[in-house]
Amino acid sequence: HVTRREDYTAPDWLVPEIALDFALDPAATRVKATLHVQRSDAHDRPLRLDGAGQTLLSVSVDGVAVNDWTIEGETLVLPLTGSAHVVETEVEIAPERNTQLMGLYASGGNLCTQCEAEGFRRITYFPDRPDVLSRYQVRMTADKARYPVLLANGDPIAAGDLPDGRHWAEWRDPFPKPCYLFALVAGDLAVNRGSFTTMSGREVALGIWVRAADVPRTDHALAALKAAMAWDEQTYGREYDLDVFNIVAVDDFNFGAMENKGLNIFNSRYILADPDTATDYDYDGIAAVVAHEYFHNWSGNRVTCRDWFQLSLKEGFTVYRDQCFSADQGSAAVKRIEDVRGLRAAQFPEDAGPLAHPIRPDSYQEISNFYTATIYNKGAEIIRMLATMLGAQAFRAGTDLYFDRFDGTAATCEDFVASLEDASGTDLTQFRRWYSQAGTPRITASLLHHKGSGRAELVLAQNTPPTPGQTVKQPVVLPLRIKLFGADSAQPYAPEQTVLLTEAEHRIVFEDVRERPILSINRGFSAPAILETDRSAADLAFLAAQDDDPFARYEALQQLMLDTLVESAGGARVDHAAVIAAIGGTLANPQLDRAFVAEAVLLPSESFIGDQMAVVDPEAIFRARETLRRDIGRALEASWRAAYDGARATTTGYVYSPEAKGLRRLKSVALGYIAASGAADAGALAFAQFEAADNMTDRQSALTTLVAGDSAQRTPALDIFYNRYSDNALVLDKWFSVQAMAPRDDTGAVVAELAQHRDFTLSNPNRARALIGAFGVNQRAFNAADGSGYRFLADQLIALDRLNPQTAAKLIPPLGRWKRFDSNRAALMRAELERIVAVPGLSKDMAEQASRSLDG
Ligand code: ARG
Ligand code: ZN
Repeated sequence: HVTRREDYTAPDWLVPEIALDFALDPAATRVKATLHVQRSDAHDRPLRLDGAGQTLLSVSVDGVAVNDWTIEGETLVLPLTGSAHVVETEVEIAPERNTQLMGLYASGGNLCTQCEAEGFRRITYFPDRPDVLSRYQVRMTADKARYPVLLANGDPIAAGDLPDGRHWAEWRDPFPKPCYLFALVAGDLAVNRGSFTTMSGREVALGIWVRAADVPRTDHALAALKAAMAWDEQTYGREYDLDVFNIVAVDDFNFGAMENKGLNIFNSRYILADPDTATDYDYDGIAAVVAHEYFHNWSGNRVTCRDWFQLSLKEGFTVYRDQCFSADQGSAAVKRIEDVRGLRAAQFPEDAGPLAHPIRPDSYQEISNFYTATIYNKGAEIIRMLATMLGAQAFRAGTDLYFDRFDGTAATCEDFVASLEDASGTDLTQFRRWYSQAGTPRITASLLHHKGSGRAELVLAQNTPPTPGQTVKQPVVLPLRIKLFGADSAQPYAPEQTVLLTEAEHRIVFEDVRERPILSINRGFSAPAILETDRSAADLAFLAAQDDDPFARYEALQQLMLDTLVESAGGARVDHAAVIAAIGGTLANPQLDRAFVAEAVLLPSESFIGDQMAVVDPEAIFRARETLRRDIGRALEASWRAAYDGARATTTGYVYSPEAKGLRRLKSVALGYIAASGAADAGALAFAQFEAADNMTDRQSALTTLVAGDSAQRTPALDIFYNRYSDNALVLDKWFSVQAMAPRDDTGAVVAELAQHRDFTLSNPNRARALIGAFGVNQRAFNAADGSGYRFLADQLIALDRLNPQTAAKLIPPLGRWKRFDSNRAALMRAELERIVAVPGLSKDMAEQASRSLDG
């Protein structure tokens, strides 16, 4: 069954008020729902309430039990005569048997909920669509010893004890909200409390709820929350609106976190951190996700989505907001590099593959499948382009107008664009194509220079390749930040300008250009496109050394490496001297931030190299990359050792600051190159770091280096790590991932063995992703020529689908890349997809993804 955007109709019935009464019990929870329903206009259609998987015990209308209802599929259909009624239902559900982790479920002995997108219907009968907004009052009763803490959305209003060892609590959320933002938590939890005073002087009680033993690991999340609250006031004028804001961490969670009104629920990996168990990368991720969910309070909750086709309205915008927040907290340049790397790793392949869809899709079978890098990350790039084009002031005026106009309502992407248009006076007609068109635009840019006349001409062209179901593409609006540098003086020809490429082709003339100009283009990655230029290796090396935009500088060096790697993977004998010189220069430049240097000298990933090739040859790519790594390691060995020793000498005692992070990062990159050089002492050096580390960043990077190689220290390090952290699930996830991502011949076999390990389980999504997800992105190991990697993934996905379809379907994309590989691999991949499609009782989630992957 396909849902189409164009079929949207407003709800027949509204539910302005709802009261829920939960008698909580892991085996059998009773849910009484009292819905105040109102006919939305003059129609005679019945009330239709979505449901899934529950047992219906009773229905009453206006206080009288009725039995003239029917069940169609899983929808409860109730004929009603008047325009307003009180409808009461009682159902029973079994949270402890809920392995899908949607609706009310058990995790680590506690009970929690996840309702977005369509989980609320698994809790009670309700019009489960985001444009039905209700005021919620929630009562929970539960065993007091087992579930001493009872939380729900909004503010606590009353609580008390009951005679039989049970207790109760009532919460009320004054803000009308769609049911996907409903949440409750019952558990044995301890809290890290804080407080925040809003810009209008209101005191908000903050709480981060975790297992008692984990409380010491919540300070970073709490600090990030306060920083995010202040940032949203300063940057967007958005103030928090309830007296309490709670966050709960749970171990079993299908994705990162959830922005339920006043009660965010998080995957514990995005809350818990201390230096011994979390890396700098984890700390960054925690701050970003805490901020993301908090920012949803306005971009998502106060203004929500009319229907799920509008998902990017809240997600793209909120990702953009969290990216800017993180950029403001540390190195903006490094943050941009990381975000673009993530976009290229996850979103570009999506746009180029069978699952390509616009940021506002036209249809879906299962909405869970559309929580994608396209909706989230490309969506964020679209908002970023709007901010670039409008400028900070007009963009802010636009978002103010948007929040003002649509506060308390369910809006559309069009509403957002129109607000920006109205506030700025900018015509965004053509820009709207970004919402409807899938695929990554390709831009070609070439710069012609006539020395005699002093004229330079920049010839730009754009083209978006066809995507499934969308063969004809229109030109999109591409804001390109551009600057020309004189090749001899290294001086800019003029200040940076932003060129809007709106047509298929465009020429820009520069007068009075005396020196040969070198083109710096798409600075800051101002447009999410693939750029092809005819810049020589020498010009790229120049930009890598001279460009004053850090992203452009990074990009030039990456392009230089990429060109070299693609050539050498294609079988050419390639000279590595230019790359080595550029890396050496970057490493030696004292003006550059160490964090930037560490990112800039990293080679492009194997899969990104593959994306540049007509047919991906994973073995050749791996060899080319390893050879270049070795050569860089050898040629610059003294520099790597100096960088390593220098960084080590300046980091004593763990501090989470941009400077200290940069040094640790550079230390780990340098260690990797020292090992790549084949130096005899590399194992000992890595093991010494592993043993001496006072933080997980250093320990994990040493382990990663050791696991890649064959030193005598390799197995001891893995064992020590396992034993030291065997009671910490989040760290054990790292132990699995490091092995699944290892660039080794035996990785496929090791991963198959790890799937039998006593600590491996498919029922915990983090653990499943740590092994299976990590293996799927290990390009060489996964694409073993004999198809063993494909078979392994398919076996795991079939097993996982029975428990948790949503998490399973998320892991399918590596199998959908068959068109990009040789015919043998393509046939092997297709055979596994066909095997998946043929599984009896396959979920809707997997059926949609696997069959679309085959059609591609
Ligand atoms: N809204 C949540 C967030 O981005 C994620 C919800 C994901 N839901 C899903 N069905 N995959 O913060
Ligand atoms: Zn979100």
